[in-house]
Amino acid sequence: MNRRSASNPKSLPAPSLDIHFGDNLPILRGFAEESFHLVYIDPPFNTGKTQSRSRLKTTRDANGDRTGFQGRRYKTTRLGSLEFPDAFSDYLDFLGPRLQEAYRLLHPAGSLFLHVDYREVHYCKVLLDQIFGRDSFVNEIIWSYDYGARSRKRWSPKHDNILWYAKNPKDYTYRYEDIDRIPYMAPALVGPKKAARGKTPTDTWWQTVVSPTGKEKTGYPTQKPLAILERIVKVHSNPGDRVLDFFAGSGTTGEAAVRAGRSAVLIDSHPDAVRVMRKRLAFAKPALHGVKQASSRKPPKRPSGRDELEASGRP
Ligand SMILES: C[S@@+](CC[C@H](N)C(=O)[O-])C[C@H]1O[C@@H](n2cnc3c(N)ncnc32)[C@H](O)[C@@H]1O
Repeated sequence: MNRRSASNPKSLPAPSLDIHFGDNLPILRGFAEESFHLVYIDPPFNTGKTQSRSRLKTTRDANGDRTGFQGRRYKTTRLGSLEFPDAFSDYLDFLGPRLQEAYRLLHPAGSLFLHVDYREVHYCKVLLDQIFGRDSFVNEIIWSYDYGARSRKRWSPKHDNILWYAKNPKDYTYRYEDIDRIPYMAPALVGPKKAARGKTPTDTWWQTVVSPTGKEKTGYPTQKPLAILERIVKVHSNPGDRVLDFFAGSGTTGEAAVRAGRSAVLIDSHPDAVRVMRKRLAFAKPALHGVKQASSRKPPKRPSGRDELEASGRP
């Protein structure tokens, strides 16, 4: 497969990062064709709900509403929430023109990754077959996690679906040597050398969700794990390439790209997303576009003490 190796990585320009605020469609139409090597998008899933994370602070209070360790009582204060609407009656009409743009913008050896869930994946597959051609479909990656409540009425859905389309199914970037290795389930069966090296993952990726109390969390609803984006960026683009995420949310793709020496362009239409990205990606000194309007909304108060996130059922 196409693997443009960086013979002298030092000669590559430092990765750049651009954050755009606004509806992605007109912004995408302004970019030059074939100017991105990798497009990853995680659009709203059409769940019909508003996606939100409430931020709570708990403080010791004898008359509080919660019981904690050793029966101590705590009072809960709601600090605010981050949310965006996730309901489109015309989901495919919304996605279609944006996916057409993704196709136009992709480099001939480039790939698109579309992250959706079991409710939309079959519609999206048909739509992408029409735009890219059926031959361009390479994998449906299942991201499997184990988080949240379990149903008593059906098998609890605990996975997302990531569709991979290569613009040219005969020549696309796939950096096999850069795939991270995972432990064998039965290492004793493969011998010590193989066991120490680990195996390559299949199309089912086991990865825990972003922990509501871990270092990685930004508080943005539906933030995806960095490990998922790191794997996609490192295997499907080369150092120095440009990566695009036009439903960027908290900027996970941007972080994975810049840390791996790729440039990234991120777009989101929600002021909270832009605010979160600016903070998360400040280390990469992003260039901001159309962001004046985004920052005019007062940011919610920073939580102090122990803060918690209430999950809305979707990672
Ligand atoms: C599921 S979230 C993305 C989460 C992201 N992958 C992360 O790891 O944080 C989808 C994002 O798409 C944004 N969005 C929805 N419609 C948009 C549009 N027309 N243009 C740009 N962004 C849009 C929402 O504001 C939301 O932040």
